[in-house]
Amino acid sequence: TTVVADTGDIEAIRKYAPVDATTNPSLLLKAAQMEQYKPLIDDAIAWAKTQSDNTEQQVIDAGDKLAVNIGREILDIIPGRISTEVDARLSFDTEASIEKAQKLIGLYEEAGISKDRVLIKLASTWEGIRAAEALEKMGINCNLTLLFSFAQARACAEAGVYLISPFVGRILDWYKKSTGKDSYEAAEDPGVVSVTKIYEYYKSHGYNTIVMGASFRNVGEILELAGCDRLTISPQLLEELSQSDAKVDVKLTDTGATKTPGDKLTEAQ
Ligand code: E4P
Repeated sequence: TTVVADTGDIEAIRKYAPVDATTNPSLLLKAAQMEQYKPLIDDAIAWAKTQSDNTEQQVIDAGDKLAVNIGREILDIIPGRISTEVDARLSFDTEASIEKAQKLIGLYEEAGISKDRVLIKLASTWEGIRAAEALEKMGINCNLTLLFSFAQARACAEAGVYLISPFVGRILDWYKKSTGKDSYEAAEDPGVVSVTKIYEYYKSHGYNTIVMGASFRNVGEILELAGCDRLTISPQLLEELSQSDAKVDVKLTDTGATKTPGDKLTEAQ
């Protein structure tokens, strides 16, 4: 399993040394409060002012440039790829999503970064999946996020998407709310069950699309899904994992091996 950091926080990325990193607008907003990102914000605003006289457009351009500026900083540290998300307001517009993805890739390339180090993150709406299908054909790899169902996962695989991020924690949140139950055993956690079903279906049908579990609420969920292709994990849970010495089975790979969480996350395939 490849460990991915679900954060825009450069210090956390230095500390946990993940292979890849994923960002989204709220993670970027949080990261942008860091003092060391101030020059990146100034640069993004200055750049946006050169692109248009329209204030609304300048805000959009500055947001895109800031996402790329932060992505570039993160890529200086990680060996792998950064996921940069297309504005959620475009989630139901295929053409606009394709255009935004190309714009983001263009900004990365202007900064000297190859598209092979970037994944364009798109919501797993029908329109988002169609956009990803077109982008993959152009050689731009995509990470389909906000994925909650088996049907979305099948549509992504059939569209030839590079990677999906099926959510765990938000499914758990909904179940807790609707059932009134305040905790679930990790193996029965409905988010874990959903990702396991998707992973097993992909592997048994020979799909190449990478499965990256996302939206974790606790270490139990992460350990239960060890063996998944990738897992994107918040700094807080990476910290808890690093403290954990639990022994667990790598069920997804069906090896029957008992490993420590550290072994599982770095070695299990
Ligand atoms: C990753 O792709 C997602 O942005 C992230 O894991 C969402 O997590 P949340 O449900 O805690 O917002």
